[in-house]
Amino acid sequence: MSKTLLALDIGSSSVTAVIAKNDMDLKINILGTGTEDSSGINKGSIVNIEEAANSIRNAISKAKRSTSNQIETTVVSVSGVHTKGIRSIGSVNVTNGIITQKEINQVLQIALYNATMIPEYEVLHVIPISFKVDDSSDIENPLNMNGARLEVSVYISTVKKTALTNIRSALSLSQLEVNTFVLDSYATALSVLDDQQKNFGAIVVNMGDTTTEVLCYKGSSIIFSDFVPVGSNHITTDLSVTLHTPENAAEMLKIKYGNLEKNFINDDLAIKKVKIPRIGDDQSSNEISLDTVKTLIHARVEELLVLIKNKIMQSGIEERIGAGLVITGGMSELKGIKNLASLVFPNMPIKISNPINIKNGYMNFEDATMSTTVGLLFYALQHRPCFELDSNKRIIEHITVKNIAKSQAFDLKEEKMNVVSKETEINKISIAEDNNLLPKLSKKEKGKGLSVFWNKISEWF
Ligand SMILES: Nc1ncnc2c1ncn2[C@@H]1O[C@H](COP(=O)(O)OP(=O)(O)OP(=O)(O)O)[C@@H](O)[C@H]1O
Ligand SMILES: [Mg+2]
Repeated sequence: MSKTLLALDIGSSSVTAVIAKNDMDLKINILGTGTEDSSGINKGSIVNIEEAANSIRNAISKAKRSTSNQIETTVVSVSGVHTKGIRSIGSVNVTNGIITQKEINQVLQIALYNATMIPEYEVLHVIPISFKVDDSSDIENPLNMNGARLEVSVYISTVKKTALTNIRSALSLSQLEVNTFVLDSYATALSVLDDQQKNFGAIVVNMGDTTTEVLCYKGSSIIFSDFVPVGSNHITTDLSVTLHTPENAAEMLKIKYGNLEKNFINDDLAIKKVKIPRIGDDQSSNEISLDTVKTLIHARVEELLVLIKNKIMQSGIEERIGAGLVITGGMSELKGIKNLASLVFPNMPIKISNPINIKNGYMNFEDATMSTTVGLLFYALQHRPCFELDSNKRIIEHITVKNIAKSQAFDLKEEKMNVVSKETEINKISIAEDNNLLPKLSKKEKGKGLSVFWNKISEWF
């Protein structure tokens, strides 16, 4: 049985902690979960260690409430903002004629040794893009193959040392050591892509709070990763600044009325205007048109999609991608984002994806904000059909179980959880009249688990 694991997703809007371990049959068993608003974390960086440590500590202690298991290993997400990808190659002679894990480890270590590392950066992942055994190229997994020479081409993800040091410092205040770091967007790809998308190659776009990470995954490797320093919080700030309303009211406007479609057919037809509080004067309000809200949101999201497109075009990976764009993260919840993305990327299939919902009694993992957390569990509990070196430069063993994750997909129709599904909650909201004064959101409600969020909203209206 595997060690008890703490998976920690340190996002700009929330920190999520999950304690889990593998059962005897290799299924992920969730033992506890906790989420906390992020503080001291911005644009993927820790900007205040004390505050970040507090958020992390609170998320962990919530997760610990439901389990007495000691945490034996910790896996933590690292934002792509601090990472750079490099390529390298390596080769070894196979002395006994049969390739074992020893030779695979050796060839990966040699590829790492051959790489030109950037000073002040350290290794996060060494992932084989493909192996070659003697004259046979494009081998995905050379284990147990016969041959005299093994070669590999790898993608090495490296990260700024200071970014890791800050995370380590924040965690040490909770008496925890980080065992393994994982690139945020790599974890996300593992949770949202199916086998077909991986085989054909897909670009995963994780639209978060202050950053959008872009990662291209093909076969069983990353082939490109980058980021754009824009996320859903920029929409909130645009609305707040332009409409002179506090950020929490702007966030509320975004979540409740954000829509990128040409018309509001599915929305509350009667509502054309809403009242919003004014900055600096809680007692008075402004009436604004929802068309204005829509226009502001549209402009920001379109600009973000164009920035993503530029990154992809500059990288030249577009031609190697058969399965198109897979969008996830909190901002992917925005209505109409798929259509707008299709206009910006006219020749690519577009899919909005949430992670596989791992069956548990604590938290709904199916929400788009949970993609990285679920991916960390997949990464650490080794449900991947490949070898690679982790952030400790140690080889991760191969487990020959395909699609365990999928067998754990949780059918919401069959089983009811404590968590209320988002759809049900949305349907409960009814708008009394046209001129609704949007109440202020507390920091707690901002960008949080949607069920809690919608519960609060339905109280106000
Ligand atoms: N329906 C929605 N429309 C637009 N934005 C939304 C919606 N629902 C949630 N969000 C936004 O998603 C963001 C949170 O997403 P997520 O949890 O993926 O970010 P994060 O991982 O904390 O941030 P980052 O990746 O930038 O560090 C918040 O800014 C929230 O306002
Ligand atoms: Mg994130």
